[in-house]
Amino acid sequence: MSLFEVKDLSVRFQTPEGPLNAVNGINFALDKGQTLGIVGESGSGKSQSMLALMGLLAVNGSASGQALFDGGDMLAMPPAELNRIRGNRVAMIFQDPMTSLNPYLTVERQMTEVLELHKGMDRKQATKRALETLEAVKIPEAARRIGQYPHEFSGGMRQRVMIAMALLCEPEVLIADEPTTALDVTVQAQIIALLRDLQRDFGTAIIMITHDLGVVAGLCDQVMVLYGGQVMEQGAADSIFYQPTHPYTIGLLGAAPRLEHSGETLVAIPGAPPNMARLPAGCPFSERCPLADAYCVSNRPLLLPAANDPTVLRACHRDALVVMQKGWRSGA
Ligand SMILES: Nc1ncnc2c1ncn2[C@@H]1O[C@H](COP(=O)(O)OP(=O)(O)O)[C@@H](O)[C@H]1O
Ligand SMILES: [Mg+2]
Repeated sequence: MSLFEVKDLSVRFQTPEGPLNAVNGINFALDKGQTLGIVGESGSGKSQSMLALMGLLAVNGSASGQALFDGGDMLAMPPAELNRIRGNRVAMIFQDPMTSLNPYLTVERQMTEVLELHKGMDRKQATKRALETLEAVKIPEAARRIGQYPHEFSGGMRQRVMIAMALLCEPEVLIADEPTTALDVTVQAQIIALLRDLQRDFGTAIIMITHDLGVVAGLCDQVMVLYGGQVMEQGAADSIFYQPTHPYTIGLLGAAPRLEHSGETLVAIPGAPPNMARLPAGCPFSERCPLADAYCVSNRPLLLPAANDPTVLRACHRDALVVMQKGWRSGA
């Protein structure tokens, strides 16, 4: 049994224009100390899939499927039971630190509150543990800064506070939603290195969400590529990086700065990220895909093992070998 297993997760929102399927039947399993990268452009369903697991969807949203953790299903358990897991054994670093840190409380009070609630610590124990965690995420002068409010921290330091908050209870699963997006490249690299250390030292399983494939290289064991709420390609990180078989993954890699290819011109995928309200009946990526034809536009591809590597799942009507050979040269 895996530490964390998500089966057939779907998320749907009720909107004035009708129901919107933001996430369609995703599956993954994560073992202790493993990292899953979830990659896709803005609007592809990355955040909503994770918020669904945490029971934090907006009121017009609903989730179906299973999220199995320690013998329970997080999508089916009573709120009190979910509260004991969330923020404690399964924790999330949110995309926007300012909306998830309380601006009216000092960092110390926000952290000690969590420890008092989940770990039953008294204030003194909690303060000690909070300080150790801030030091673990390498916040300089942590003893002084712990008394400050979120707005007194720079973007990079605030992100570290968020990570510290998520790590306070030593979670077994850490979901990091674009934890480095707003930061400059140097700070990004530091945060990634920090997550890697934490994983090594504590065996934390990490779900790393990003729109940048470059970020997940070297950090992830598995990768799931999402587009329009659907999995385009999924498998071992090495396979996805070095032998991508889906036109969308190939396009994303072209748009990602990869160290070994530095010097090459980056090519962004032409067209706009998915508009969930207006997806074609067939492959969601067909409108931007250089290899798509009329069949792709009207028939949804199933997620099936790739011919060249059955450990990789792909949803594409084009033959994997043909896509790998042609890449984006034809039509793009
Ligand atoms: N409360 C909501 N009501 C309707 N649609 C929503 C709501 N929240 C998110 N969505 C839609 O769900 C889709 C996926 O969003 P999200 O998971 O946040 O994307 P991302 O991959 O950028 O994290 C988007 O099209 C977004 O507009
Ligand atoms: Mg998001």
